[in-house]
Amino acid sequence: MKIIAGNPYLRKEAGKVLIDLVPIDDFLGKFETPIMIFLENKIRENLSVFKDVFNSIFNNKEFQTFYSLKANYLPDICKIINSERIGAQIVGLPELKLALKVGFPANKIIVGGPYLPKDLIEKSIERQVKEIIVYNLNDLEHINSIAQKFDIIQDICLRVNSNKYNSKLGVILDRKSLKMLSNLINKHRNIRITTVLSHYSSQMNDFDQYEKNIQAIAENIKNLSKINVKCENINMGGGFPEATVMPKNRLENIAINIKSTIDNLGIDYKSIYFEPGRYIVGDTGLFLTKIIKVSEDRWIFLNIGNHICPKFARCSLRFYNISQINEPHKYKTSIAGIIPTDQDVLAKNYFFTENLIEEDVVLVSNIGAYTLTFSNRFPYSLPKIFLVKGNNFRQIFDPSIDHDISII
Ligand SMILES: Cc1ncc(COP(=O)(O)O)c(C=O)c1O
Repeated sequence: MKIIAGNPYLRKEAGKVLIDLVPIDDFLGKFETPIMIFLENKIRENLSVFKDVFNSIFNNKEFQTFYSLKANYLPDICKIINSERIGAQIVGLPELKLALKVGFPANKIIVGGPYLPKDLIEKSIERQVKEIIVYNLNDLEHINSIAQKFDIIQDICLRVNSNKYNSKLGVILDRKSLKMLSNLINKHRNIRITTVLSHYSSQMNDFDQYEKNIQAIAENIKNLSKINVKCENINMGGGFPEATVMPKNRLENIAINIKSTIDNLGIDYKSIYFEPGRYIVGDTGLFLTKIIKVSEDRWIFLNIGNHICPKFARCSLRFYNISQINEPHKYKTSIAGIIPTDQDVLAKNYFFTENLIEEDVVLVSNIGAYTLTFSNRFPYSLPKIFLVKGNNFRQIFDPSIDHDISII
């Protein structure tokens, strides 16, 4: 038995490739490529590892996970995640409605982002979500007046700037904004600042990045104390790579270092929150595609492209020639997509099989996070989407019936 892409749910056994326990030919014999597949058991495993690691290291604190829905908001995926009893972090009204519909309890939903339209604030307050996340101090006034209407004191999480070079997201607590914040909270009695959030980056492989994030949180907590705001909770955002890229022992190491850095900086907090997206779903998705053209200088064209597998998603893509799975993958090959532009490049100089043959099937792994989110409306058909669990699979999206993957 050989594991493919470091993912125990993708295996080669007696020359056959299995997706969880389903032979890959069960798909290829019945459906045209491109096919998108999600692995339910891997989603559950990722969630369980994440919770176990952080629960054991932050065992004397309240630790909570909020899945960042924007990573993948397919309802069937969200239902699986909700059934594992974690919370949800959402950025807009369509996501909020979806999160409530698939059963996330309102008191486990945190809502917010750079754009807080009135209907989003209203729905969040009416449904009594756990916290509203504010990136812009001007939003506090609106939240207060709506909270007043509902006779509620709304808990607020302040998204602070992570100090990452060039980052424009989040509040910078300098003298001027601290004064403004102090005035706002003295004047408005229906808001209460409970949490500080800093999200540093995506695909954070080095502890350095987590450390800088903690430093940003510590600095901002200190600044807030100057205006007598005492935050109970810290929220470190997301940014973990795919679970196969950051195996359990490395995640444990990161978690241990996070805990000791927080302790060394003397940060006093009741609860710690994380908002992983990619870690939970990134390595749970794969494409089955085929080579539609082989051209000079070892370029191959697949029947997917940046419209459905976008660069913006920043996936750690891995490519396997399923039709020649027993052959060594050690010959540099460049891989293009089917959008009619030279910019549609999926990988350059990627180690692949020596023989490049049209119609060969290629498995692309680690496409579970942000591919659908950042996909665009280039006029090709959307792929069929399947969910595999053990030796069963079912179709969760059929483009001829469901038409679109957007949420409304
Ligand atoms: C505030 C915040 N939290 C969580 C996430 C999820 O990040 P990831 O999917 O990298 O874990 C993001 C992503 O941009 C974010 O901005």
